Amino acid sequence: MEKIAAYLEENRQRNQDDLFELLRMASVSTDSQYESEVRRAGEWVADQFRGLGFETELVETKGHPIVYAESPPVENAPVVLVYGHYDVQPPDPLDEWITPPFEPTERDGNVVARGATDDKGQMLTHIKSAQAWMESEGALPIQIKYVIEGEEECGSSNLDPFLQDYKERLNADIAVISDTSQFAKGQPAITYGLKGIVYFELYLEGPKQDLHSGTFGGGVSNPVNAITQMLGQLVDQHGRIQIPGFYDDVVELEAREREQFASLPFSEEEFKSKLGIEAVHGEQGFTTLERRWARPTCDINGIWGGYQGEGAKTVLPARAGAKFSCRLVPCQDPDKIREGVEQMLESLLPPGLKMELVHHHGAPGVVVSLDSPYMAAAAEAIEKGFGTKPVFIREGGSIPVVTAFRELLGIDTLLLGWGLDDDNTHSPNEKFSLDDYYRGTRASAHLWQELSKITRD
Ligand code: BES
Ligand code: ZN
Repeated sequence: MEKIAAYLEENRQRNQDDLFELLRMASVSTDSQYESEVRRAGEWVADQFRGLGFETELVETKGHPIVYAESPPVENAPVVLVYGHYDVQPPDPLDEWITPPFEPTERDGNVVARGATDDKGQMLTHIKSAQAWMESEGALPIQIKYVIEGEEECGSSNLDPFLQDYKERLNADIAVISDTSQFAKGQPAITYGLKGIVYFELYLEGPKQDLHSGTFGGGVSNPVNAITQMLGQLVDQHGRIQIPGFYDDVVELEAREREQFASLPFSEEEFKSKLGIEAVHGEQGFTTLERRWARPTCDINGIWGGYQGEGAKTVLPARAGAKFSCRLVPCQDPDKIREGVEQMLESLLPPGLKMELVHHHGAPGVVVSLDSPYMAAAAEAIEKGFGTKPVFIREGGSIPVVTAFRELLGIDTLLLGWGLDDDNTHSPNEKFSLDDYYRGTRASAHLWQELSKITRD
């Protein structure tokens, strides 16, 4: 590994320049005005693989292309499937960026740009580590298959058909994803659990147009009153979710896991001060880490209706709407939760209003096995790459492909996050530590070595 370590040190600037080049491409997948930039980023990633001599395809889909590449097979060594995404979230609100989102800038040891941590910087570590192997050793010690998609930020709707089509070729022993976070600065982590999600949009319609609230108030259901009453009942004041059957299948935290969470150096004071809040709040009977990582939640993501302009307007609005979602834990069934939500809202709908409930994406929560030689190899690689042993954590975000890999390919995923909770993912001034980009690449290079020591059964 010395040659590889030296190679990574010598090429530190070049690898950074490459990341900056990718970050200059505005690959916003949700917005069709960026379509050519999304494709350019996909082609750039494909070119990286071609440069390494890997068999590479830019697979066309109904949406943005998927980059598929594989390094040469290695007899008796495990096969690893790396997943990442080259698309990014929209940069809005633009005026809150200190420097423009697609002009990557180095500030305080970080690169600041949309996609820096989610997921261009993290994803690229697994390409740069392979490059280090190829250019210093001439070959990798294992076979790596890469799936780098361009639609993660808009629901990955074309990924499942691709996984079905390529099922045989994707055959692997373990998957690796870097799209999560470390526990804290200087404390790397392996994430062994993620939440699932169900997402809804609710529309209420009352009278055919806005009305005078004095003339008609008292005689007509107000859609904005109704939507606040209905959604307000989803969660009680103790943080317990009131959707029928919601907790039926929840896997409760075990004492051992609660002890392990409690042993992590989490400071509630620091957490509050970073977020600018005076108190934490959530489901009674659980700590903040337990609630964030392993308890289901329900949040309104957006709500609208009625008069928003200057001054007072005495109006009884004709319609109201909201977006809301539940984060799920194993073994809650997204379909069952959807039915519960529909049933509850229908029963709460006041007379005289029409309701439409739109269901968006859904995915179950996952926990991966801590007890595998792959996990041990990942812990070893992180210790070698970062100089610190990782801690084992769960997180509250969702990566639906982890379940797809398990169900379709029968494999688990190693979630090796190089990011930080305060990287401003999906927000203005997204950042990624350049030291962690370097250390992540080093850990990834060690991972290929550590995994190659595992004999296939
Ligand atoms: N990188 C995140 C997932 C994530 C976030 C993992 C925080 C751990 C902690 C990913 O890109 C993402 O944003 N996922 C969405 C999934 C959804 C749109 C299906 C999420 O969690 O909101
Ligand atoms: Zn994301």
